[in-house]
Amino acid sequence: MNILAIESSCDETSAAVLSNGHLLSNIIATQLIHEQYGGVVPELASRAHQQHIMPVVERALLDANIAKTDLSAVAFTRGPGLLGSLLVGASFAKALALGLNIPLIDVNHMQAHVLAHFIEAPRPPFPFLCLTVSGGHTQLVRIDGPLSMTVIGQTQDDAVGEAFDKSAKLLGLPYPGGPLIDRYAKAGNPLAFRFPLGEMPGLDYSFSGIKTAILYFLRDNTKTNPDFIQQNLPDICASIQHTLIQMLLTKLKRAVRETGIRHIAIAGGVSANSGLRSALTQLGDEQGWTVYIPRFEYCTDNAAMIAMAAQFKYEAGIFADQTISPLPRLHV
Ligand code: KG4
Ligand code: ZN
Repeated sequence: MNILAIESSCDETSAAVLSNGHLLSNIIATQLIHEQYGGVVPELASRAHQQHIMPVVERALLDANIAKTDLSAVAFTRGPGLLGSLLVGASFAKALALGLNIPLIDVNHMQAHVLAHFIEAPRPPFPFLCLTVSGGHTQLVRIDGPLSMTVIGQTQDDAVGEAFDKSAKLLGLPYPGGPLIDRYAKAGNPLAFRFPLGEMPGLDYSFSGIKTAILYFLRDNTKTNPDFIQQNLPDICASIQHTLIQMLLTKLKRAVRETGIRHIAIAGGVSANSGLRSALTQLGDEQGWTVYIPRFEYCTDNAAMIAMAAQFKYEAGIFADQTISPLPRLHV
């Protein structure tokens, strides 16, 4: 069974081929055009997807050494994401499935981030908890089976990736700033500055407060010392990152207490953060959890995870028809 999967929910055009559960290729074209605007510009994103999709798909098939006529199904990201971006992937997948007369499979992008853990060993057993952290989402998910997921906590405002990117912007760093904060933080003291951890009830998160706190902190300090940011960049980045990680892990600990589930995974773009990866590993050792951290290339947006999710749907006999359309606000 050969599945071709397409991911185009935001600013990455990606295609992957999965053959009987083995990943044969995973091609990702990143759109660099957004950097100069300090964020993803939806109209430019969909145009770039249109330019990239053909070569990316061709390359994925070539690397996998699979002919179009050998495909068993075509999968695509239905949502959540930017409508214009989703439309490019959905239209392409629909046309290809129709042309080849093979099944079409729609995939939920957030479920796919979780299912990225099944691309290679170690694969978590069910049930497990997953902290899904990306530029658009921050969720605590309970996973009882590949197609059975429940969100047990989530952000009520900004996503944690947004908090990273907006903090970076306040520091004058280019978009996307999350990886840059990570890089500067490595040379800084995480306890140099303190930011409020916020107080949200239950398993929910809120990241809008910390953004405001950082804004005032920088404004006050640059008033007396205009070079404050340049002189303290590693310490500021390390302190921001430390605060965000503490917020994430405090609720994760609570989720473990409440559910009794001790197999813990992270997923999504922010799970590429080196501070989060090491803090979670350490916490897992302390608490006796088994921790699952995906390889870097399966953390940020990629079609390999879409292919993996599609395989589970294929096995369950769940297919889409040609009337399907993207859903920018699709929930888990
Ligand atoms: O999952 P993803 O690729 O796209 C969405 O579905 O949103 O996540 C992108 C987010 C961005 O906010 C980016 O800054 C963040 O992941 N990110 C990081 C790191 N790598 C990516 N944040 C912190 N540290 C990183 N190393
Ligand atoms: Zn994503």
